[in-house]
Amino acid sequence: SARTSTVVAIDGPAGSGKSSVARAVAQALGFRFLDTGAAYRAITWLILEQGGSTDDEATVVAALDGLDVDVTVDAAGQRVTIAGHDVTDAIRTERVSAAVSGVARVQAVRSAVNERFREIIRVAEPGIVAEGRDITTVVAPDADVRVLLTADEAVRIRRRFGDVGGDQHQVGARLAARDAADSTVSDFLTAADGVTVVDSTHLTFDETVEAIVRLVTEENHD
Ligand code: DC
Repeated sequence: SARTSTVVAIDGPAGSGKSSVARAVAQALGFRFLDTGAAYRAITWLILEQGGSTDDEATVVAALDGLDVDVTVDAAGQRVTIAGHDVTDAIRTERVSAAVSGVARVQAVRSAVNERFREIIRVAEPGIVAEGRDITTVVAPDADVRVLLTADEAVRIRRRFGDVGGDQHQVGARLAARDAADSTVSDFLTAADGVTVVDSTHLTFDETVEAIVRLVTEENHD
């Protein structure tokens, strides 16, 4: 292809740390960073704001009508707006996390947001790290480097929630439930053909970032 920029696609299960790892990889390489989950979160935030339930598919589909969500990735980072209103931070609440699967499983939503992601990736200079459940397979199957970032479930729970003591059981159940709900959309636990598995179970954060940066530099020397 005529593309001169480098595209790095990273997906993986909840709590794999893919968001912070992907952001750090982008920073190390001087690339843009796209966290695709943010778009699903923004639509979820809007539906909750309007008093709707994301469990109701008709409500989710109706939210697409006239939807004005914009995701921008500049050198300073990613911003998400709805009708010009900045929701970058508002979409990070546990309330949104708990409801977002209902939005992510609606195919009409996926088609709509994927269109925008492909455009962002297409114009990103000098490169972009894009992160999300179906990035290596559906959104950017032709990315220069495709990574499935994994870690054992116990490690993912600890990294996501810290030392949660007695609540560990419930927290683990919640994470497992989200993985199960999300996996009805895409099988993000199995690496597709051509996707490199990076298992971070025994790696520090910095080692994980380095492992992916190395894949990118090796690719660029081919
Ligand atoms: O990574 P995250 O927690 O911000 O993702 C939010 C939700 O969106 C989660 O349910 C997974 C889903 N998602 C998806 O289905 N496809 C993507 N490309 C990104 C996120």
